[in-house]
Amino acid sequence: MFSHNSEVPYQIARMTRRGFLQGSMASLAGAALPIPKARAGLRAYSLSAVPAKVKLLGVKGAGKTDVWTYSGSTPGPLIRARQGERLRIDVSNGLPQETTLHCHGLRIPNAMDGVPELTQAPIQQGERFVYEFDLHDAGTFWYHSHTYSAEQVGRGLNGALIIDEKEPPMVDRDLVWVINDWRVNNAGVMSDDFNHPHDISHGGRIGNLITLNGAEWEDFDVKAGERLRIRLINAANARVMGFKFGGLNPKIVAQDGHPVKPYEPAGGRIVFAPGQRVDLIVDIAGTPGERLAVVDDYYKQFTYTFITFNVEPGEVLRESPLDAPITLSGNPLSEPDLANAETKKVLIEGGAMGGLRAAVYKGDKVELRKLWRQHRKVWVLNGVASSGVNMDPIFKLKLGKSYRWRIHNDTVWDHPMHLHGHAFRVIERNGKPEPHTPWADTVLLYAGDVVDIAFVADNPGDWLFHCHVLEHHSGGMGAVVRVA
Ligand code: C2O
Ligand code: CU
Repeated sequence: MFSHNSEVPYQIARMTRRGFLQGSMASLAGAALPIPKARAGLRAYSLSAVPAKVKLLGVKGAGKTDVWTYSGSTPGPLIRARQGERLRIDVSNGLPQETTLHCHGLRIPNAMDGVPELTQAPIQQGERFVYEFDLHDAGTFWYHSHTYSAEQVGRGLNGALIIDEKEPPMVDRDLVWVINDWRVNNAGVMSDDFNHPHDISHGGRIGNLITLNGAEWEDFDVKAGERLRIRLINAANARVMGFKFGGLNPKIVAQDGHPVKPYEPAGGRIVFAPGQRVDLIVDIAGTPGERLAVVDDYYKQFTYTFITFNVEPGEVLRESPLDAPITLSGNPLSEPDLANAETKKVLIEGGAMGGLRAAVYKGDKVELRKLWRQHRKVWVLNGVASSGVNMDPIFKLKLGKSYRWRIHNDTVWDHPMHLHGHAFRVIERNGKPEPHTPWADTVLLYAGDVVDIAFVADNPGDWLFHCHVLEHHSGGMGAVVRVA
């Protein structure tokens, strides 16, 4: 057994960081895809959750930022394995608080899910916990702390978890892009107002610095004719991203890790909310010297250029797009039986300008104003504000049975709703069939939306269902679902 932390960098070859660090970047150019060697199909990693100082701001003169990391970096080390293998992650806790590790989107046994109190006792300071499970699905996943998440994830405790297909599609580069959003000042000092009441009751902790793999970027060098696979991971606490790839004509090949029939999103615009992932195939059709900007215009008043693809002058890799299939082979998911599925309803209420009067909290009906003052709870699922995870299940689902959930967002805010331990199909939105009916573990509901999801409850245990705007989860937006 060995671990592979330091030798597993994110592939950042040929990126140009704003203004400096060019030399050190150059040394990473052409780094091969790092897949550690397996011993008898087991891949072992260790992560230590520790505070560190890192350079987030690419501006000259800005200092380092105090963050919390896995093994010294944010995002933490890239964890990579192959479908069908077994993965072990040994987590040690060097934080000033207890912690847990959650592998977001993986369908694993309940005891490995990393939800404190619900699936395990939290890892105390100085202690460790070994997560180990089989990998059924290939795809783009991620890992993050699931204890005091608004603070711990907000301070940087996240990383990418990539499970390679047995036969991956042919691409020139396979890029893992963990995108995060921070609240820092010009000197690089992070604001420590986690779970600020305004963030809880409104749109969550929206920051002012967007990073790609832990740093601010400007240009990304590509070659004409090159085929890229880009794995977008939204690791932000609250910021929804709406990337316009304009002239780059991306094709979406997977969502939340699971393959979809490749399609071009309308206007080249890709919306992905906290927790969600999107896999793209991009054939660089530009001519040498051309510059193609990726613009995030999700929040109309804060439009910014995320990165600019710079088509290298001179070299043309190929004249016409690579003639190789881009369709990924599917994961072994059980298709829900819609004709016989039982329907359940989830009603989301609360938040600022929501008009919610009262909520059930720890079994008692409480006036909302009082609940807000005393416990900072302002969101409910089916009338109940969560109090941590020691709650009665909202639903008791029968193992092996198909369910259709009708989720109604009766608030004026966006909510990316995440179900643990399962993948579901997004069937319908506001009475219309959802295009592509993707498999997902996190579905974004816009204000007022009614969304139908369907899945087979095939993984036994008590699972969390919550909003991935982490401040909303702190503010009451979580529930337990029992599958037995
Ligand atoms: Cu990304 Cu409850 O998790
Ligand atoms: Cu929410």
